[in-house]
Formats: sequence, C-alpha cells, structure tokens
Amino acid sequence: MPVSLIVLAAGMGTRMNSDLPKVLHKVAAAPLLHHALQAGASLSPDKVVVVTGHGAEEVARAARDYDEAIETVLQEPQLGTAHAVAQAAPLLADAPGEAIVLYGDTPFIRPETLQAMLEARARHGVVVLGFHAQDPGRYGRLLTAGDELRAIREFKDATDEERAITLCNSGVICAETRTLFSLVAEVGNDNASGEYYLTDIVELARKRGLSAGVVICDETETMGINTRAELAQAEAAFQARARAEALDNGVTLTAPETVFFALDTVIGRDAIIGPNVLFGPGVTIESGAEIKGFCHLEGCHVSRGADVGPFARLRPGAELAEDVHVGNFVEIKNAILDEGVKVGHLTYIGDADVGEFTNIGAGTVTCNYDGVMKHRTRIGKRAFIGSDTMLVAPVTVGDGAMTGSGSVITEDVPAEAVALGRAKQVNKPGLAAKLFERLRAIKAAKGKA
Ligand code: UD1
Ligand code: CA
Repeated sequence: MPVSLIVLAAGMGTRMNSDLPKVLHKVAAAPLLHHALQAGASLSPDKVVVVTGHGAEEVARAARDYDEAIETVLQEPQLGTAHAVAQAAPLLADAPGEAIVLYGDTPFIRPETLQAMLEARARHGVVVLGFHAQDPGRYGRLLTAGDELRAIREFKDATDEERAITLCNSGVICAETRTLFSLVAEVGNDNASGEYYLTDIVELARKRGLSAGVVICDETETMGINTRAELAQAEAAFQARARAEALDNGVTLTAPETVFFALDTVIGRDAIIGPNVLFGPGVTIESGAEIKGFCHLEGCHVSRGADVGPFARLRPGAELAEDVHVGNFVEIKNAILDEGVKVGHLTYIGDADVGEFTNIGAGTVTCNYDGVMKHRTRIGKRAFIGSDTMLVAPVTVGDGAMTGSGSVITEDVPAEAVALGRAKQVNKPGLAAKLFERLRAIKAAKGKA
C-alpha cells in the first residue's frame, strides 16, 4: 500500500525563545525535523511533504539535507493544523493510498506505532494516535464510545466533563489520502481559537458514515518540544534509549551514562566504548573496534580491530582501516589511514592519505593550510615519519621512506629514502660548563646588590 507523509513544521515555537525555527533545534546532533522524518521513513513512503512557515527556507533546506526527494510547501499565514494539511493537497492530489500526518516537533514516535496505525485503517476510515496523559494539560481530548472515536475536543472548546478525560490526541492522524484532503477542505474555523482544526475531521468523517478509531501509544512517544527545558528532557530521553539499545546490540559501554550518541550513530557488536565519549553526526564504528575514554568523533569510520584514544578527536572524513591505532591527543580530519597505521601521540593528520603499516611519530603535523588553500599530504606504505616532522603540503613521502625527527619536509621524498630537513648538529666541547659558571656569577652579583 503506497504511503504519503505530511509533516507539519510551520509553527513558530514562541516558547523556545529563539531565532531558530523550532524544528531545527537539535536532539542527538540532529534537527527535531530529522527525527520525525526518520520515524516516517520506516514506512518507506512514496512521497514526503513538509509544510513550512516560520523560517521556511531554513526548514526546507534541512528537509532536503535529510532526503533530496522531500517536497516542501509554504503555509502563509498559519491558520491551524487543518489549513496546514490542506497546503499539501496540490502536491499529493493524485497520490494513491494512505496519508499520515506527523508533527515536525514530535521526535519520538516509533515505527511500530505508525505501522499499527496503518493496520488499524483496515477497521476505520480515520485513525488517530492517542495516549493516556499523566497531566492532560491543554491537549485535545479523545471522546470515545467503545472502539469508536466520536470526536476530538480541543482544550479551549471542551466542557469541564470533557477536560476530565485523560485520553489525549498526539496529533498523528492516518486516512486514505483523498479522503483526508476532502475532509480537511470541509473544516471551518468557528471555535475558541478561530483556527482550522485538523481534529475536526473526526466528526466530519463520521457524518459521512466513516468510522474513526484510536491507536494508543506510550506517552513518551508523543513528547512534543515547546521549550528549552523540554528540549533538554528530550535529549536525555534519547540518550537513555540509545545507550540501552547499544548495550542490547552487544556493545560494551564502560560508563553508559557518560556516552552521547547522534541520531545516526552506528556501532557494531563487540565494539568497546570507554567513558566520556561523544559521537557527533555521521559516525560508524565497526565490530570489535575500541574507542577509549574522552574521545570526540564526527563524520568518521573506524574499522574492525582499530583502537582510538583516550583523548582523540576524529573529524569529518577520518577513515580508519582495520587495526589502525590512534593514540592520545591526536586529531584526524579528511584523511585515510590504511590498515595497521599507527599514530600514537600528539599529532595532527589533515587532508592526507597514509599507506598501510606506516608509523607516524609523536608530534607530527601535516601543514595542510597555506593561509588560503588546503593541500594534501600523501605518505606511502611502511614508511616511518620521525617524531616532530612537519609535512608541508602538498607533499608526498614514498613507500618505505623515513623522515628524520624534527624535519620540515617541503619536498617529495622518494621511496626508501631518508629525508632530513633540519639544521645539522654542532657540539662545542666544554662550552656548557663555561656558560653555567658565567650565569651563576651574574646571579650571585645580583643577589648582593
Ligand atoms: C495540536 C492538536 C491537539 C493535540 C496536540 C498534540 C489541533 C487543532 N490540535 O494542538 O489536539 O493534543 O497538537 O501536541 O490539531 N502547525 C502548522 N501550521 C499551523 C498550525 C500548526 O504547521 O497553522 C504545526 C506546528 O508547527 C506543530 C503542529 O502543527 O508542529 C501542532 O501545532 P500546535 O499549534 O502545536 O498544536 P496544539 O495547539 O499543540
Ligand atoms: Ca504543540
């Protein structure tokens, strides 16, 4: 059955107290919008439409960052959730099958829940996702009779009796695409807010003789983000879940509560993650790799058998092949380290290719930036880069070559050659003793004065 997704993301989010549109605030290093899109992506939708309004350009860009194929439509002005859905009609007019409405600011709906809603459509014309609220506050209330949903009553329009109901509307709704748009077209705005309420489609559907039903999910799934405090709570909830999942998947976390994951972090079975490790976006750690304490990783790939840290930083484009060793106070950016490369200490490798089994000495720096442009360093296989080598890019060091410690390498080094790029050492016999004597005499004279 083809599925279309309509993601509402036009709202301002006043209570965030922010210049950034609400759905672009991040949880687990990803905009809230991406969380909603990811939940929807589990249904393999044929079409996805994001309804934008406040910060439309930025929101549309973020949607395309997630998936180029996503379409966006502008809702201006914002007259309510039914009005928002109606804006998607021209883009989905001929779309067969089901439509699901999600909110861009509600990141935690589970794929299984959305699947359950599609299945419930076999029994009902309109399916609404509901939850039992601890504190129903200002949520819309679900008025039910047995298995049937009679209506959704917005808090502002509800009687005291209706307000006492704790079964609430999450906002997620599913119906046949054509039915949804024809219902939405009938919604009026004669209510306490003067808005076009999407929730009105339940009663409109029933007037047509269609049935409406509820799928109930856990309240944690429907958590919407309206304030910075809720954003922080959502981050904590995401991390708690990600840690539990990693442990379930056979990842060792020495101190789970100190490890932070991104929405797209992938970690293989039998990987070991030490304390205080932060994963930014775009990280894959293969099975059996080890990330020791206090590492910061983003946009990188760590292969089987590699070990990283403690105190290492892998930046976007760091690609570590099998059995690579990256030690403490090492930064790697946009560089490919082939199998068995060792970079043990205090080193910066940026914009570089390093061949297999090459050893990079302590304090090595690839000088990749000339103040205007970036340049690449190429180091061959089984080479030995002496400690404190400055590799001034663009430069190539051949297979099996060596550089002397402290060298500044500005020219290519042929395979199997030794390159020395430093001042030649001179020893002056007895000079140190004389210097010490003179300096001590000066100090003693000062002390008397
Ligand atoms: C809505 C529901 C309410 C439900 C609650 C759950 C309606 C009328 N009410 O209320 O029953 O309990 O969500 O959180 O649907 N949006 C637009 N354009 C608009 C208005 C809203 O895109 O013109 C988007 C918002 O950005 C947001 C979502 O729709 O992502 C919900 O809008 P919001 O104003 O937060 O609805 P609530 O009043 O919370
Ligand atoms: Ca809301």
